[in-house]
Amino acid sequence: MNTASTEKDRYVVIGNPIAHSKSPLIHAAFAAQTGQQMDYQHLLAPLDGFAASVNAFRAQGGLGANVTVPFKLEACALATRLTPRAAAAGAVNTLQFSDTQILGDNTDGIGLVTDIVRNAGVTLHGKRILLLGAGGAARGAVLPLLEQLPAELVIANRTVARARELQQLATARMPAVPVSAYGIEAVPGHFDVVINATSASLQDAVPALPAGALDARTLAYDMMYGTQPTAFLRFAAQHGAQCRDGLGMLVEQAAEAFALWRGVRPDTAGVLQQLRAGLQSAAG
Ligand code: ATR
Repeated sequence: MNTASTEKDRYVVIGNPIAHSKSPLIHAAFAAQTGQQMDYQHLLAPLDGFAASVNAFRAQGGLGANVTVPFKLEACALATRLTPRAAAAGAVNTLQFSDTQILGDNTDGIGLVTDIVRNAGVTLHGKRILLLGAGGAARGAVLPLLEQLPAELVIANRTVARARELQQLATARMPAVPVSAYGIEAVPGHFDVVINATSASLQDAVPALPAGALDARTLAYDMMYGTQPTAFLRFAAQHGAQCRDGLGMLVEQAAEAFALWRGVRPDTAGVLQQLRAGLQSAAG
């Protein structure tokens, strides 16, 4: 009988659906690289059974979990303590269990920033940034983006009222950086960095940006990724922008969770390369 998994510290990624998640592959690579004895599996939770699934896993000795769609808000409610960035996001993608508490963190936004600043080599300090979207993905990104002290953050959303709500939250957290809110078609001027945090790519749709918002000087970033460039990145490439999808963000948010759990920071470059090669071969 193979008892290896019972001897290792146990972690899961919880979602519904979950079988597609690359997190077990990423964390297995990090564990092998750093010599950490951990076992990381998929955990499918029923749509009405997130808390019960987490509690059962914790009772079996699980030490932590990543949380994905559609449970990030429930994870935030379940946590007994939140990191400031999770509180700012109102969403949790990483749980850490101890005897006395459930710590909730959000590593998505810092994963995005690390991928832009370190992997893509694009400084955010002093830049004009446009964040498209005002849902959960955008909320997670706001505080880590503001911590880079850009010259300005413009939040644009199809439903302007949601962009305004997020602007108010952002201004309350970081008054030093000017933050404004617009409808997507009304954003003013040119941007150094445009981040697509909408789910428009799922419908193969492009947020309706005005002419001149992005050009060859712009980094266009889509939080989504796939075997083919998203509609937003195809649009950005037509305007000459430097394009980057969210695969690096996926790996960097995982590295941040791994560091929180294990106290060791894995090297991400090789894992990102491996995933990229996998996507390219799937694309044929
Ligand atoms: P997530 O957690 O992925 O952010 P969400 O909270 O449902 O999901 O938010 C989806 C975001 O994508 C919203 O900002 C949504 O705009 P609305 O607030 O106006 O609904 C945006 N979105 C979805 N489809 C879009 C499209 N076709 N064009 C532009 N924005 C879109």
